[in-house]
Amino acid sequence: MNTPTLSSSAPVALITGASAGIGEAIARRFARGGYRIVAVARRQSRLDQLAADLSPLTEIRTLAADVTATDTAERAASLAMSAFGRLDCLVNNAGSGKWAPVHATDDATLDEVIDTSLKAPFRFCRAAVPRMTSGSIINVGSTFGLLGGLDGGIYCAVKAGLVGLTQTLAAQYGVNGIRANLVAPGVIKTDMTKDYWDAAPFQRLNQEMTPLNREGTVQDVANAIFFLASEEGSYITGQTIALDGGWTTTKYLSREALLAARVQST
Ligand SMILES: NC(=O)c1ccc[n+]([C@@H]2O[C@H](COP(=O)([O-])OP(=O)(O)OC[C@H]3O[C@@H](n4cnc5c(N)ncnc54)[C@H](OP(=O)(O)O)[C@@H]3O)[C@@H](O)[C@H]2O)c1
Repeated sequence: MNTPTLSSSAPVALITGASAGIGEAIARRFARGGYRIVAVARRQSRLDQLAADLSPLTEIRTLAADVTATDTAERAASLAMSAFGRLDCLVNNAGSGKWAPVHATDDATLDEVIDTSLKAPFRFCRAAVPRMTSGSIINVGSTFGLLGGLDGGIYCAVKAGLVGLTQTLAAQYGVNGIRANLVAPGVIKTDMTKDYWDAAPFQRLNQEMTPLNREGTVQDVANAIFFLASEEGSYITGQTIALDGGWTTTKYLSREALLAARVQST
């Protein structure tokens, strides 16, 4: 299979957590949209498969690394520059799906979620910004960074932290032509959430309580991120966009849910 040679003016996107779920869909969407790709995640075999799938479309480099390692962000941004000579878009998507109520969160979980979902995105921004002459950063938050959640704990806190990081990036680097936005997905069916999907109450939550009355897909998230990175999104910065079928903004509750008893969590 011949690898296409895109012009050096083709933009470059660095995507973390690209080996599965939302991140993989983002990599595929950006590849179809003419971007060259740097894909980061821990599982080499999944990255190899992604590279094999995308190489007829675009040029791709992979970095199999843990985003919590303090040198991964620098290595990834350097790879973009050495392979392609430019960096136009950073998507901070890798995240830890561990959540528990506050009283049940041990220190190991606290550290893991903060390291993966807040410190790592911060380091990737720090590494990317000096290498970008324009373009955009998109952080993947969660609706649970906008609202409290019964099991939210540190997961909610770090996703809310990403909102602050996004706003300050927008303020600091807009003058350099760099935009920063955050997308906050609702529940999307991926490995992170697959264990919940067979439970009837979970399905009710995601259908009866969602105005658009369907589950969100990885493509819904990838399309919105691609739009934000594109020229069509060029006056949007510092924003948080919920991708949740209207769930967070409508309080669209089913009659049964309104009447349901709440179980005490302690
Ligand atoms: N699914 C949802 O309902 C939902 C809702 C709101 C927000 N989100 C957010 O969306 C993002 C993607 O979630 P997803 O649902 O697509 O999850 P997923 O299917 O479990 O995929 C997670 C991705 O992140 C990578 N990753 C995780 N920890 C990593 C680490 N320490 N170092 C490097 N890569 C790491 C994984 O790759 P490796 O395992 O190969 O390292 C994988 O590619 C997360 O930030 C999540 O919080 C998801």
